[in-house]
Amino acid sequence: MCGIVGAVSTRNIVPILIEGLKRLEYRGYDSCGVAVHQGGELRRARSTARVAELELEVARDDVRSGIGIAHTRWATHGAPAVHNAHPHFSRGPGVSDADVAVAGGTAHSGRIALVHNGIIENHDELRAELIGRGYVFNSQTDTEVIAHLVDHLYDGDLLDAVQRTTMRLRGAYAIAVFCRDEPQRVIGAREGSPLVLGVGSAAHAGENFLASDAMALAGVTDQIVYLEEGDVVDLQLGKHWVTQRTAQGDFKPVQREVRTVHAHSGAAELGPYRHYMQKEIFEQPKAIADTLDAVTGITPELFGDGAWSVFKGVDSVLILACGTSYYSGSVAKYWLESIAKIPTSVEVASEYRYRDSVPNPRTLVVTITQSGETADTLAALKHARSLGMAHTLTVCNVATSAMVRECRFAYITRAGVEIGVASTKAFSTQLVGLFLLTLSLAQARGHLSDAQEAAHMKALRHLPVAVQAVLALEPQVIAWSQEFARKENALFLGRGLHYPIALEGALKLKEISYIHAEAYPAGELKHGPLALVTAEMPVVTIAPNDALLEKLKSNLQEVRARGGELFVFADADTRIEGGPGLHVIRMPEHYGALSPILHVVPLQLLAYHTACARGTDVDKPRNLAKSVTVE
Ligand code: M6R
Repeated sequence: MCGIVGAVSTRNIVPILIEGLKRLEYRGYDSCGVAVHQGGELRRARSTARVAELELEVARDDVRSGIGIAHTRWATHGAPAVHNAHPHFSRGPGVSDADVAVAGGTAHSGRIALVHNGIIENHDELRAELIGRGYVFNSQTDTEVIAHLVDHLYDGDLLDAVQRTTMRLRGAYAIAVFCRDEPQRVIGAREGSPLVLGVGSAAHAGENFLASDAMALAGVTDQIVYLEEGDVVDLQLGKHWVTQRTAQGDFKPVQREVRTVHAHSGAAELGPYRHYMQKEIFEQPKAIADTLDAVTGITPELFGDGAWSVFKGVDSVLILACGTSYYSGSVAKYWLESIAKIPTSVEVASEYRYRDSVPNPRTLVVTITQSGETADTLAALKHARSLGMAHTLTVCNVATSAMVRECRFAYITRAGVEIGVASTKAFSTQLVGLFLLTLSLAQARGHLSDAQEAAHMKALRHLPVAVQAVLALEPQVIAWSQEFARKENALFLGRGLHYPIALEGALKLKEISYIHAEAYPAGELKHGPLALVTAEMPVVTIAPNDALLEKLKSNLQEVRARGGELFVFADADTRIEGGPGLHVIRMPEHYGALSPILHVVPLQLLAYHTACARGTDVDKPRNLAKSVTVE
């Protein structure tokens, strides 16, 4: 999703801005751009191609400077087009893009240059006001409104103009802005979208940076300040200061801690794999082993100091998450209720935050997020807190993320950087973290004997090997994928613990192969979806050897009787045999409570190879972003 990089230095920072954008590229974007202060003017290059193309363009046009901002855009308001790409300029009332000179494709003019992540909810109202003042709009974005507003409020002090601008904005934003008339200053501001300040080294005359994620600055600086809601930061050479909006509506200076952050570079070698998604599927044994690395036994303290008493005192769990993370939470609900005996609800974060609910201060609020920056999940957490639910915990893959900073307790999964938009190793490691949470809650609530703990730990330790065995099924899955690639619809069935796995399998298939896929609890089939079953509808079924196996076998008969073609992932001990219209891939023997972690793997492979056969952009599927930082 959208990314921001900004810099003030004495050296040419264009290569740093471009490198920063490249580090954020994997999150998904549809246009990109850079603006600098050069020769007393603003210069800009924007593109709907990749950042590598932008890099060629700025090199060709000799765009260079010690001050600049750059952006990758994921379209929300206005199509993915050059005129909507950031940075946006404001040139004062009455002047449009059409009126300014264009040299070698790099437009140069304007007084204010600005990039923005987030969504401005009152942009229509502000646009009308600014049009009334004579401003000409060149894009359909909500962002251009902010650029014009800063210009309108500018009276020789950019910090003051940005502070006053933020007072008028409703919604979520992280912005970076500079002004033609103050050539050694970049101002940043945030509310609802992440923004960090990177403190540069004295070796480069006290240069300073801004970015939407510390990862963008990897290799440039590891001295990071996480800006807080309502912060406005002023970056100059050798100095930076942060101000924060007060309840009275003015700004006061604040001190923010500078932390040493060893951010991942974001770059990862593909090695022998065709795509990052394939690599990440195959990294799962290691990711799971790494996630378990420091776990020598079960204790609530795995989640942070003081967790024991909180886990003992809570009487329910509320899980908040989106997408794939929501499905891992849905698996966890089964574990939490059956093993820890604690009532659990799972809510889609974007729904929870807007509905009337009955808060319970004795609830443990658990957020699940790979990125730790998902706007809906962060907002849902804040909503829960505002309702008086103070016990917060996250299962997250990014230790430096906003979510980890916001929550009282955390379990950091060690999946490593996930580049493919379709989440795979993040999901399986989330499940590991959630299983540890289940056992820890069970222990604190007196539902975990030493023998049970030992048995679960043994199964967890063996999990990487068990997942490795499932990965060896890839050739059989590839054979199925050739047939799936010709279909336009698919049904996924699962029961109990494996119903969320069916949902995850369907999400993976639609996300990257663009095949319409639906998932149902198998018992629901006869209540409607059976009407869809024909020979053209592949029905993928997850068949673990659990308590519901015989019921599931009856559901399979219902499909066969209607001519449906079944593709069944069956545990070795289920005695489900292949035959006409019934294809079987045999999984290892049933793996008990952890079985969902094995069963999701062939579904990931099926989606991956089907997408490859259809020739889609597997790692960057259309319209999607890796990190969804807007509502
Ligand atoms: O970073 P998060 O785990 O909070 O992301 C939540 C969803 O956006 C994410 O899981 C999404 O559904 C994936 N693309 C699924 O593969």
